[in-house]
Amino acid sequence: MKKLFIAVSFLSILFCGCNKNSSWQSFSKDKTIEQKVDSVLALMTLDEKIAQMTQFASNGEIITGPASESDVARYLREGTIGSVFNTVTVENNRTVQDAAMQNSRLKIPVLIGFDVIHGFRTIFPMPLAESCSWDLDLMRKTANIAAQEASSVGIHWTFAPMVDIARDARWGRVMEGAGEDPYLGSLIAQARVKGFQGESWESLKETNTILACAKHFAAYGAAEAGRDYNVAELSERTLHEIYLPPYKAANEAGVATYMTAFNEIGGVPCTGSKYLFTDLLRKDWGFGGFAVSDHTAVKELIAHGVAKDEKEAAALAVNAGVDMDMADGVYIENLKKAVEEGLVSESVIDNSVRRILEMKFILGLFDDPYRYLSEEREKSTLLKPEFLETARDAVRKSVVLLKNDNSYFPLDKNKGQTVALIGPMVKNQRSLNGEWAGRGNRNESVSLFDGLMEKYKDSKIRFVYAEGCDLITNDRSKFMQALSVARQADIILVAMGEDFNWSGEAACRTDIRLPGAQQELLKELKKLNKKVGLVLFNGRPLDLSWEHENIDAILEAWYPGTMAGHGVADVIAGDYNPSAKLTISFPRNVGQVPIYYNHKNTGRPVDPANPKVDYRSFYLDVDNSPLYSFGYGLSYTSFSINNLKLDKTSMTKGGSIVVTADVTNTGKYDGAEVVQLYIHDITASVTRPVKELKGFEKVSLKAGETKQVKFEVSEKNLMFYDLNMNYTAEPGAFKLWVASSSADETNEADFELE
Ligand code: BGC
Repeated sequence: MKKLFIAVSFLSILFCGCNKNSSWQSFSKDKTIEQKVDSVLALMTLDEKIAQMTQFASNGEIITGPASESDVARYLREGTIGSVFNTVTVENNRTVQDAAMQNSRLKIPVLIGFDVIHGFRTIFPMPLAESCSWDLDLMRKTANIAAQEASSVGIHWTFAPMVDIARDARWGRVMEGAGEDPYLGSLIAQARVKGFQGESWESLKETNTILACAKHFAAYGAAEAGRDYNVAELSERTLHEIYLPPYKAANEAGVATYMTAFNEIGGVPCTGSKYLFTDLLRKDWGFGGFAVSDHTAVKELIAHGVAKDEKEAAALAVNAGVDMDMADGVYIENLKKAVEEGLVSESVIDNSVRRILEMKFILGLFDDPYRYLSEEREKSTLLKPEFLETARDAVRKSVVLLKNDNSYFPLDKNKGQTVALIGPMVKNQRSLNGEWAGRGNRNESVSLFDGLMEKYKDSKIRFVYAEGCDLITNDRSKFMQALSVARQADIILVAMGEDFNWSGEAACRTDIRLPGAQQELLKELKKLNKKVGLVLFNGRPLDLSWEHENIDAILEAWYPGTMAGHGVADVIAGDYNPSAKLTISFPRNVGQVPIYYNHKNTGRPVDPANPKVDYRSFYLDVDNSPLYSFGYGLSYTSFSINNLKLDKTSMTKGGSIVVTADVTNTGKYDGAEVVQLYIHDITASVTRPVKELKGFEKVSLKAGETKQVKFEVSEKNLMFYDLNMNYTAEPGAFKLWVASSSADETNEADFELE
């Protein structure tokens, strides 16, 4: 035992510092690290190797007495397992490393993971909300702050970004991603990966960055009927064109790890898919990091019906290329036997262990397992004032103005009036962070009420308040009091939404209207014949058809996080002019889902001028279009896009076309417009979407100002998987639009690819 410790300590000294010349793309290209990994591997028994491929959750209290301890507690105490997750303080993470250093034979440092999804201690708007800012720098910055905070308590690895494309509002996890579009989703995936990890893998040597994890590979967002964990029933083409691009983009940005998805695709559960984890990810895309299963997903191969017991499940997953097993202990309990019986070769185990150890070397953990751990850093990093300021900025940039009749918003500070604040989200703090809110303190998030009180403290507005109802139940007992408070007021501002548990994992809904008695309360308030505005706090697109018809103004604030009330108050008061645009369609009702802008035409598309002609692809009861489209969002000012020009209308192979347009702020407020470029391939060897986003620019404009936007359309933007699944661009006619949303077709032009 002593001898080995000396050997490892000696190796640690020898291993100090990583090779500066290694490439970002393939971690395994670093020869120095490769040699170090091999020398550790040479010391390891099969049991020790398999333990490195194992991850368990812990609250940090792992030194339990042997008499009553569970298997997991024993594994944690022995200090041999590769990774621990859910330990979120320096103190607890030190305990985890101590177990490895003091109790294990080889003293291999432990990799510590956690779901740092939209902030660690400072909670930012939920990822879907942030995506509506279309501000890649902002998203990179918030991911970076999350990394700074998480790493300050000794976390090395986040299970984020979640890059699953989502087209179905019933699915609770739409809140975690970047919406429905593969192009925007890919750019956001890259921004978030770089935010967590830094610019290059050299940055991972710093103690203020963390490993990212692109999840859930693959097509978890395609869960049938929007029911979590359900099968993803989709064509090879849709998989490649719609769902895979963000995962691929994450690899291009150098993501260190991937997580498996719970679902199956075409009869193959992703956690056992050799196609996904070996052929596509490693061989085609050249991924050099390691893959972890989702929580107990290896064991679930039995319930899926592709493995008869845990041993078969372990063999299937590891042979597919899943290096680490999260939470279920299936590898550690079964892999040795699987190797002995020849179901898994030891070289497969060695490769997985190599990938895991490599990451520990890259992070410098062999040099010093405690290098991330400092109480002082934890104290000085969490909730830094500048982090909170960024969080506030992220809130106002994520809030989408869906409707604003008669300029209900902004609420003028100088107008002497009484505003009735009604609804369960006015004073609610608990739900503001939404799901997956790290170590965020739900009692610290700024309520809308507190945000407004601070904002309007020296104003002429007088506020009165009543809760009216709760977020969930049908209890109408507080209606009367709310109505009497509302009667005293000149206008009514209602705050409603979903409890944070109503979106997120295993939080799917078949009715996506406002839950409980909330809509009933709105209906009663409407009868008072006063102007009514609605601020929504929720995790998914809701069916807002009634609200759209009947309420003057609707502000979608999502789950905004720690600085919720301040950021939303900035928008309500007009100190920030809303600039966000939806990245997911809002259906007219749940019967329309899945609904997305980049759909196919069909052989019988409706004629928009005459939509109800028989034997066309339509519904008898509602229009085909969503209530609010992808790319839609209002501002307090107005914009117009004019003067669309193409420098040529014919593109040669390998060439490009320059597209320009003028965007003018035609209203009274300064503001920002997200100008969007969409393209449609009219005729091809396979059917193409009616339009696809291929570029965008967020342009800030003073009132009255005009700026030119410029896009370069290249052959790359016209590529797709042809009849034979070759990724190519086919000659022919195309249409493009420079637009304010996916529904805006005012500025249209034609061109061709020669
Ligand atoms: C989720 C993952 C998450 C993991 C660990 C699972 O249930 O699907 O997204 O990273 O738990 O918390």
